[in-house]
Amino acid sequence: MNSNGREQWGSKVGFLLAAAGSAVGLGNLWKFPYMAGKNGGGVFVVVYLGILITLGFTLMAGELTLGRFTQLNAIGAYRKISKKLTWVGAIGVFTAFLILSFYSVIGGWVINYIIKTCTGALSTSDSAALGDMFGQMISDPVMPIIFHGVFMIATLVIVLGGIGEGIEKASKVMMPALLVMIIALAIRSVTLPGAEAGLEFFLKPDFSKLNGALILDALGQVFFSLSLGMGIIITYGSYLPKEENIPQSAVYIPLIDTAVALLAGFAILPAVFALGFEPTAGPGLMFITLPAVFAKMPFGTFFGLLFFVLVLLAALTSSISLLEVCVSYVVDEWGWDRKKTTLTLGFVIFAVGVPASLSLGPWADIKIFGKGFFDLYDYVTQNIFLPLGGLMSCITIGWVWGVDNAIKEATNNGKVKFALGKVWAFLIKYIAPLAIGKVFYDSFIVTLF
Ligand code: PFF
Repeated sequence: MNSNGREQWGSKVGFLLAAAGSAVGLGNLWKFPYMAGKNGGGVFVVVYLGILITLGFTLMAGELTLGRFTQLNAIGAYRKISKKLTWVGAIGVFTAFLILSFYSVIGGWVINYIIKTCTGALSTSDSAALGDMFGQMISDPVMPIIFHGVFMIATLVIVLGGIGEGIEKASKVMMPALLVMIIALAIRSVTLPGAEAGLEFFLKPDFSKLNGALILDALGQVFFSLSLGMGIIITYGSYLPKEENIPQSAVYIPLIDTAVALLAGFAILPAVFALGFEPTAGPGLMFITLPAVFAKMPFGTFFGLLFFVLVLLAALTSSISLLEVCVSYVVDEWGWDRKKTTLTLGFVIFAVGVPASLSLGPWADIKIFGKGFFDLYDYVTQNIFLPLGGLMSCITIGWVWGVDNAIKEATNNGKVKFALGKVWAFLIKYIAPLAIGKVFYDSFIVTLF
C-alpha cells in the first residue's frame, strides 16, 4: 500500500512480469503468427517492428507515466488531466470489456485443446483431420460456451485475489515457464524438413504485398499485443511506487512481448510450410498446425499438453489485466465493493462473449456491417478503438498534460535517467499522433465513406 491506501506492486520483478504478463498472451501466440500469415509474412513483420520501435516504446512509456502520476484507473486518469478527456478513458474501459468477451472464448478453445491433448484426440499429423477437428470444435453450439465460462471463472478467481497476491504471484511463475517452452517449440519447428520455405516467408519481406490495410492490421496488432491504447498500462502504472524506473520498464516490456511474438512465429510458420498447411488459414492456425508439430515430436503428447497449459496461463495473465481495468474503474468511480464488481462484470462479459462464440457456428448467418459477432468484436476493438485510444493518449500526454510534466514524472523529478527523453517527447507529441492519424484515416475512414 502507498500513503493513499492504494495497493502497490510488491516488487520490481513482480510488476515487470505482471505487465509483461498482460502483454504476452493470445495476441502473441495465437494472433501474431496468423496475422503475419495472412499479411504476406516478412513484410508484416517489418512493418510491425517499425511501428513497435517508433510507437510501441513511446506509448508504453507514456501510459506508464500517466498512470503513475495520476494513481488512478483509466477514466480517472484522463479526467484528472482534463475533464474533457474523460471519454477517452471510457472508450478504453469499454474496449477492454469487449476484448475480454471474445478473448475468453479463445481461452475456452485452449482449455478444450488441453483436454483433447490428454485424450489423444489430437495425436495425428493429418492436416485435414486437424482442420476438421478445429472447425467442429469452434462451431459447436454448446461446448465452446461452457469452456468460455470456465475460462472466465478462472480469470475471476485470480482477480478476486487482488494485485499482489493474485496477479503478481501468478505471473512470476507462468512467464518464465512459457518462454522456455516456446523456445523449445521454435527449435523443433525450424528443424523440420521443409521448414526453409516457412523461414523465408517469415523473414524475407515481399514489399509488393504492402498496403494500407496491412499497416492498419500491424498498428492494431502492436497495440493489442502490448496492451496499449485502452488504459491497461495506465492502470498498472497507477500501482507503481514512485521510485520505479519507468523509462527502463518501457523498454523491457515491449522487448519481452516482441520476443515472444517472434518466437511464436518461428514455432508456427516454418511448421505450416513443412507440414503442408496454408499460412493464410486465419484464427485456426495455431490450433491446427501445432498439434501436427507435436505429433512429429518425441514425447509429443507431453509437450503438447505442456504447451497448451502454458498458452492458457499466458492468456490468463492477459485476461486478468483486461478484467482489472474494468473492475478498477467501477471500484474507483462507482464505489462498488471489489468482490461484487468482479463477479458482476465477469458475468456480463461472459454473456457478451456468447454471441461471439455462436457466430462461428449456429449464428454464422447473422451479420452486422458484413461481419459476424466474433469478427466484429475483433475488428472494432483492434482496428478502430485501440488506434483511437492510442492517438488520444498521445494527444493527452503530448499536448494537454505536456511533455515537460510527463518527463518530470517519468524521471521522478530528475532522479532517474531518461536518456532518450527528448526523442520520446518529439515522438509522442508529433510523430505518433500524425502516424496513427494517417494510417487510421487512410485505411479506415477512407474505406468507410
Ligand atoms: N496483450 C494481450 C495479448 O497479446 O494477448 C491481450 C490484451 C491484453 C490486449 C490486455 C489488450 C489488453 F489491454
